[in-house]
Amino acid sequence: MIFEVVTLFPEMFASVTSAGIIGKAQEKGALQVYLTDPRSFSTDKHRSVDDTPYGGGAGMVMRPEPLVAAIEAVEAARGPAHKILLTPTGAPLTQPAVLRLATLPRLMLVCGRYEGMDERVRGFCDEELSIGDYVLTGGELAAMVIVDAVARRLPGVLGNADSAVDESFEAGLLEHPQYTRPALYRGVGVPEALLSGNHGRIRRWRRLQSLLRTRDRRPELFAKLTLSDEDRALLAGEEP
Ligand code: ADE
Repeated sequence: MIFEVVTLFPEMFASVTSAGIIGKAQEKGALQVYLTDPRSFSTDKHRSVDDTPYGGGAGMVMRPEPLVAAIEAVEAARGPAHKILLTPTGAPLTQPAVLRLATLPRLMLVCGRYEGMDERVRGFCDEELSIGDYVLTGGELAAMVIVDAVARRLPGVLGNADSAVDESFEAGLLEHPQYTRPALYRGVGVPEALLSGNHGRIRRWRRLQSLLRTRDRRPELFAKLTLSDEDRALLAGEEP
């Protein structure tokens, strides 16, 4: 997978590309991250990338020319990419979207800054994504979130055991609680089912915990679930 990131702050990406699992994946060749700064495509003498908004108002707006020039230069140099604009007005990023993006060969993440960007840049991108209902100072952190979430779905980046974990999230459920040694920590024990060695019981306990957590913490996800007969029985057993 090739990630092309168009950003005025390429140095922000060092934390993602040099450390941890993503850094190792890059060393192994499972992914590559190219950083392109639209400022290098600004043609005026001050290399400006922003200007005042038409119609007035506070703040600056990113000019379309340097951004679009950067997008086009990247594609001319290394080939066409699926282009994603990061913006709080985009569609919410979800795990199914992450899985879809992980199947593509080349993603371009276009990061906005300042108060916004010229509306006409949207026409040069294939989709717009937001990482949540809050406003960041720019799209960079959102782009890093996408690189991280997509990278861990690529072959050879994680072990198989880890991949299985979020299959449950992809099925619309939150993950069940996990425990490791010691069996008693500061007076708190480990649920007996997990110590039982009975695989069927452990699976049912985990399933019930996932269902209960989802129902309590994310009722909107729970409402979308299609419960199996076993799910209903587990929940009925739990409730008086
Ligand atoms: N840029 C600023 N805020 C953002 C958000 N929540 N998601 C994506 N890009 C952004």
